[in-house]
Amino acid sequence: MNLSSFALYITSLLWLNLTDAKIGYFWHITDLHYDPFHNSPEFHRGCRHNRGSSDHSHRNGRHRDHTCDSSWPLIQSAASFMHERHPETLEFVLWTGDILSSSMEHLSDEIKLEAVRNVTYVLSTTFSSQFVFPALGHNDPPPSRKLVEMWRQWLPTEALQTFEIGGYYTIEQSHSKLRIIVLNSVLWAGGAARTDGPNVGRAQWEWLNQVLSTARKKSEMVYIVAHAGPGVEDRHNAGSSSASGGGELSPSANARLLHIIRSFSDVIAGQFYGHRHSDTFRLIYNEGHPVSWALLAPSLTPRGAGSVTNPGLRLYKFEINTGKVLDYTQYYLDVTNPKGEIHWSIEYNLTQYYGLREINAASLHALAEKIRSHHDRSVFNKYLTALRVRHSTDTSDCDASCAHVHYCAVTRADYSEFRSCVRNPASALASRAAQNTTAIILYAILIFMSS
Ligand SMILES: *[C@@H]1O[C@H](CO)[C@@H](O)[C@H](O)[C@H]1NC(C)=O
Ligand SMILES: *[C@@H]1O[C@H](CO)[C@@H](O)[C@H](O)[C@H]1NC(C)=O
Ligand SMILES: *[C@@H]1O[C@H](CO)[C@@H](O)[C@H](O)[C@H]1NC(C)=O
Repeated sequence: MNLSSFALYITSLLWLNLTDAKIGYFWHITDLHYDPFHNSPEFHRGCRHNRGSSDHSHRNGRHRDHTCDSSWPLIQSAASFMHERHPETLEFVLWTGDILSSSMEHLSDEIKLEAVRNVTYVLSTTFSSQFVFPALGHNDPPPSRKLVEMWRQWLPTEALQTFEIGGYYTIEQSHSKLRIIVLNSVLWAGGAARTDGPNVGRAQWEWLNQVLSTARKKSEMVYIVAHAGPGVEDRHNAGSSSASGGGELSPSANARLLHIIRSFSDVIAGQFYGHRHSDTFRLIYNEGHPVSWALLAPSLTPRGAGSVTNPGLRLYKFEINTGKVLDYTQYYLDVTNPKGEIHWSIEYNLTQYYGLREINAASLHALAEKIRSHHDRSVFNKYLTALRVRHSTDTSDCDASCAHVHYCAVTRADYSEFRSCVRNPASALASRAAQNTTAIILYAILIFMSS
């Protein structure tokens, strides 16, 4: 070893020591869409897309039919897989809503709460020494005393106070500078999804601003966690942005949340959302520069929004003190696998899959630009395969104009910017997509039916 490499060696030892980057893990699970009637005479309730077809209940084994929401055995298999995979430094679990199948919508509050209680029980036995942080989706019961009782085991008193009123809360961790902010996106959703008066939604804005300002003063880093995040649905063609009241943020809420994210991008170490039943990401720009990112985890239910997908579970690797996200491993269950048994496996690891050196707004922006490439579809094909959780690896059904819509969805979280990106006259391909009204109407109907 010569002198300069020795100096480098010493420096790196010191650096490691000083930064003391403790590595931890957390699960992100979302959109379980538990259907208690999956295997009962009322079976068809949860399987709207195939009503009338008699063979679907047997096609892929009854507990993982991809035209239906999650059966109890599917939820149990996910739980036991996560239990088995338990890393030693599992810090917490993010659970971003839509616990219940939308087929339960018209059932009584009692039965809904009983279903939520059953899922809560499974998670509490799976993660007996970790905290699970739940966020509410538009298919879940609204905040109540009963939910507070159920989730008291995971949430501290201060968190329960705001949760009971508005379904939102913040978690301050004693051993790190990472704060978790869990939002109730239902309060900001347009149309039918809204369950509370506008006052509660207004209070959540004030609260969010105040929590973020305090975090900045205390030099904390923050994770923003919610069921639905900002940005549009990938499969919208020309963006009827509110997706018929299916839990999407209203246009004004979307704009306001983007504004807050831009203003506090220096304290936001990550955003984690579910809701779309697809594996994707969103970038937020400030004056043309990428300043923040959101990673969206795929659903546990195999039933997608207007499509089908494989059930997914995601394990993040991060620096405990700073919240810096280092990687994640995406797991999936192949529902088309004809062997009747349940077999969870690794789908991919984020950094390796896309060849990223780091996960930050700049690297994800560079990835989005590769997804856009018209000369080389290989990165886009990888993206689309992941988006569908490998339910299909054939990407030929998504032509260049379809690929352009995906690119716009990733990079234009603002609804009107998304629409103009899709219609961008500089791209002949994009205008072709906009002309195809058949496809747009079909998409709209599918999205409407699945919400
Ligand atoms: C909840 O679990 C209990 C006990 O296993 C079961 O009897 C009941 O049917 C379940 N209810 C729902 C809605 O999942
Ligand atoms: C992904 O990462 C996990 C955990 O670090 C590792 O065990 C696994 O081998 C990796 N898989 C792939 C496909 O790279
Ligand atoms: C429009 O989209 C539909 C459905 O995807 C397709 O069948 C049809 O061929 C498309 N038409 C044109 C003109 O691209």
